This record gives sequence, C-alpha cells and structure tokens, in this order.
Amino acid sequence: MEKRANFGSKLGIILASAGSAVGLGNVWRFPTEVGSNGGAAFICIYVLCVLLLGIPLMVAEFVIGRHTHKNTADAYRQLAPGTPWVFQGYLGVFTSWFILCYYSVVSGWTLKYLFSAIAGKVTTVTDSAAYFVEFTSHPWAPIICMVVVMLLCHIVIVRGVQEGIERSSKLMMPLLLLIIAVLVVCSFSMPGSEDGLRFLLKPDFSKLTSSVILSAMGQSFFSLSIAMGCLCTYASYFTDDARLLKTAGSVALIDTTVAVMSGFIIFPAVFSVADVSPDAGPGLVFITLPTVFEMAFAHVPWIGWFFAMMFYLLLLLAALTSMMSIHEPTTAFLLEHFQISRRAATRIVTLSCIFVGVLCSLSFGPLSDVKFLFGMTFFDFFDFVSAKVFLPVGGFIISLFVGWKLDRQLVRDELTNQGTVKMHFFSVYIFILKWVAPLAIGLIFLNELGLFS
Ligand code: PHE
Repeated sequence: MEKRANFGSKLGIILASAGSAVGLGNVWRFPTEVGSNGGAAFICIYVLCVLLLGIPLMVAEFVIGRHTHKNTADAYRQLAPGTPWVFQGYLGVFTSWFILCYYSVVSGWTLKYLFSAIAGKVTTVTDSAAYFVEFTSHPWAPIICMVVVMLLCHIVIVRGVQEGIERSSKLMMPLLLLIIAVLVVCSFSMPGSEDGLRFLLKPDFSKLTSSVILSAMGQSFFSLSIAMGCLCTYASYFTDDARLLKTAGSVALIDTTVAVMSGFIIFPAVFSVADVSPDAGPGLVFITLPTVFEMAFAHVPWIGWFFAMMFYLLLLLAALTSMMSIHEPTTAFLLEHFQISRRAATRIVTLSCIFVGVLCSLSFGPLSDVKFLFGMTFFDFFDFVSAKVFLPVGGFIISLFVGWKLDRQLVRDELTNQGTVKMHFFSVYIFILKWVAPLAIGLIFLNELGLFS
C-alpha cells in the first residue's frame, strides 16, 4: 500500500493549520462582533474563550488525528469501534463539506471585490449597498466567482498534502501577514484614527450580557475551525515529533492576532469617516468599507485604491486557505475509505460543492423566495445548520470523547510525544474537557438557538 502523506516540516504544520483558522471569520465576522458588542470588553472575553476552551479542544482534535493517522471518520472507528462515538467522525466529515458549500459563495464575493477594487470601481461607486445587492442577486455573476475560487482550491487539494496544502500555505500565509502589517500602518496614519483605536481598546463592560459572552465563545470556535473535521484531518498528517500543545498555541496566537489586527485595520478607517456606524452588521466588509475607502482617502484617491485592493486580496487569501482545510476532510475520507485516487476524490468534493453552492448563491437572487425551515433561504439554512448546530454538537461530543472515553495514557502519550516532552497541568486539561467545555458548549448551543434572548 502507498505510504500515507504527511506534512514535511513543523513550520508547514503551523502555517497550514493557521491557514485553516485564519479565514473570513477573522477579517469579516470578528470585527463585526467587536463593533456591536462593546469593543475591547468583547476582545477580553474572546481571548479568555480561546485560552480556556479553544486551545484545549483544538488539542483534543489533534490527539485524535495524530494518534490514528487516519481521516476523521476512520479515526473514530479505530478508537471506538462499534460504538456510537463513530457518529462524530462522520459528522466531522459531513460538517466540513456542508460548510464548504456556502463558504465558497462568500469567498467568491471576495474575488469579485478584488477585481472591482483593482479596476477602481469599489472606491468610486456611489451607492455601495445597491452595488452589493446588485452583484449578489445577479443570476450568474456570483456563481462564476464561486466556481473560480472552488477551482483554485481544487488545484491545491489535488496536488496533495505536501505539494498542495503545505506549499501553498507557506506561500499564502506569509503574504497574508505582510498585507495585514501594511494595512495596519495605512489605517493608523489616517486622520481621526484615534477614535477607532479608542473604541477597540477601551472596554465597555456594560455591554457584556450573557448572550454577548456566549457569542464570543461561538466566534472563538468558528474562528479556530473547531469541530469541523479539518483540525483532526490536518493532524493526521502531523509528524510524530510535532508538539501538539505548542502547535495549538501558535495557531491560536496567529489567529487571534489576525482577528485583532483586522479590527485595527477596519475601525480607525471607519472612524475617520464621520457618518458611518461601526456596528454596521455583516455588511461591514462589503458595504460599509467601500464607502470608507472612498471617503477616507478622498484627498489621495490612489491610496484608497491601493488600500481597497490589498484588503480584498487579504480577504481572498484568508478565504482560500480555509477552503482548502474544509475540502480536505471529505477528500481524505473518500480517498482512504473507498480506496479511490486523490484526483477522483477531489473531483467528487469539488463538483458536489459547486452544485450545492449554486443553490446557496442563487438564494440571494432568483431563489430568494425559496424558503426552508423557519423561513430560511438555502444559504441561511447551510450557515445556520453548520455553524450553529453541527459545530456546537461536534465540539460537545469531541470534548466528551477525549475527556471521558479515550484512554488517559493515550492522550498523555500524544501530548508528551511518548513522554519525551514535559506536560504540566495534564489533570487541569482533562478537567476542562470533562466538565468545563461540555457545559460551556451546551450553553452556547442554547444561546444560538435563541433560547436566552
Ligand atoms: N476558521 C475559519 C474562519 O475563521 C472558518 C472555517 C470554518 C474554516 C470551518 C474551516 C472550517 O473563517
């Protein structure tokens, strides 16, 4: 049998995993949540969630993947054969496929905005809200964009773990970090940017309701790509000398830094333009920012053009590296479980996602009247079910699985690389997985279903 692929270096491991974590959630969703939930106070809670829940759960997925060196579904089958836990393996694979179907639609929008920014349209359009609606409701333009980003992702995945995922992450992630640094400097140099900084750095704890705290938890899970099968799948390609806790810490650090830096890019710019509101909701990136780019740089339009172009390139890179990580779990599953070639497995995933992605995309236009459960469109349905149902359910099961079911010595061996590295606070770690995480996730779940509001 052919030898199973693995990542070639520790840097590759960290950059690929960070590529999964750093995505639209960081640049798009995080600043929006910060904007509407009390600025720095939200950031403090978010960081606590990452440290206390995010990292432990990420490590739990790493343990499962690296120990078995199998795709997510077969990993659970190996660790708990014939038990209901196996369900989680399939759920992980399915969730990642499910997310890819709608994530690719928004990723397609970033491609369109990148081209519009290059052509100078984003910064000159008079009504950015109308521009956005006109594009997203168009019958085929957003579909073409979605198909193009899916094909870009396909090209990477078909090349395999080292030549595809690792190599492209090593190229794209440093570029992404460089763009962020350039944009932060640009944004800080704008007149009036101090107000944006004050907004981000001054905590307003009066806004911290229980539902805000639970949103911070939900956001940290989504941002770290927890319970979607991707961390477990990537970890199955980790080498035996990779240090799981250290890798999780580095990934969480990069992910959180990028999220906060995105806030630093967006808010000074937003505040330098007097009449746009910082809590503009999900339209922030596609509707508010184009106006901001145009107005903030009215005196030197080429800087606005450059800023907009770099920003949408950043968004596209972030989206692509995340898409790769949600493509791989299903591809790896098909490839290993059914013993087909990587080429065939990749093709099945790409084509099926494009097919469903078309429906999601059309739900902003011709299919906007087709409603599912609770009046949701296709897109809303995919977003809701994956991010608000599968994700908490998956996180809940994973924490119970590693906390209660897995052999304690197996977990310890993985965390200490068979006793060769030190691990402090092992019992605290297990305690978190056994009690804290399941309880917290249970609350997130109920909150997201709207039971506390
Ligand atoms: N973590 C990614 C983000 O922040 C999203 C993602 C979700 C990536 C699921 C992979 C899997 O946007």
